[in-house]
Amino acid sequence: MSKKTDTTRRAIVGATIGVGLGIGTLSLLAPVASLRPKKETSPETEPPKEGDVFTFAIGDNAGKEITFDDLPLEGPAVLAYPKDPKTGVIKSGEKNNLVLLLKLKPEELGEEVKKYAAAGTVCYSAICTHLGCTVGEWDAAKKDFLCPCHKGLFDPRKGAEVIAGPPPRPLPALPISAAGDKPVVAGGFTSPPGVLSGTDTHGGSCTV
Ligand code: FES
Repeated sequence: MSKKTDTTRRAIVGATIGVGLGIGTLSLLAPVASLRPKKETSPETEPPKEGDVFTFAIGDNAGKEITFDDLPLEGPAVLAYPKDPKTGVIKSGEKNNLVLLLKLKPEELGEEVKKYAAAGTVCYSAICTHLGCTVGEWDAAKKDFLCPCHKGLFDPRKGAEVIAGPPPRPLPALPISAAGDKPVVAGGFTSPPGVLSGTDTHGGSCTV
């Protein structure tokens, strides 16, 4: 057998083994994937629902219910978790339940945004649609939400549309209404909060 033929044969055998291993590995992974535990839901991880009040997520007042008077006019926004007023459970067990509450002048809000607002107050997901960082900063000059990870800017007056940076879509809105002196949830998020599966994250993710 010539040297060339021998080399070619080894290459074919090697490639065949490679493919075989790939299929074998996949077939081994399939049952493992099906055994992966399903995401548990609990009262703390349930999504916001109509009638939920809001509580401060961080700071000295963490856990305290939020009234409209607690929100500074024109920002900065306040990070909050929904709370079931019947059970008293704060829904802080799910990252995507973290929201931004912001009080603006009602006349500043776009027509579409007004549908989701109450008393000039808007509520959006606080989880960046780029890589999932917390949109925890406020650009006081532009009056926009700022994601510290890659400088994503969102305009709260225009449905949190992306003004700058890499986020691929706006922050979903959480419709609210007024119940006495408090903002309460009036419906589900206008689109799924957080990073959508299929979003090209270039292998990265944020935990900020
Ligand atoms: S994670 Fe927010 S801009 Fe990248």
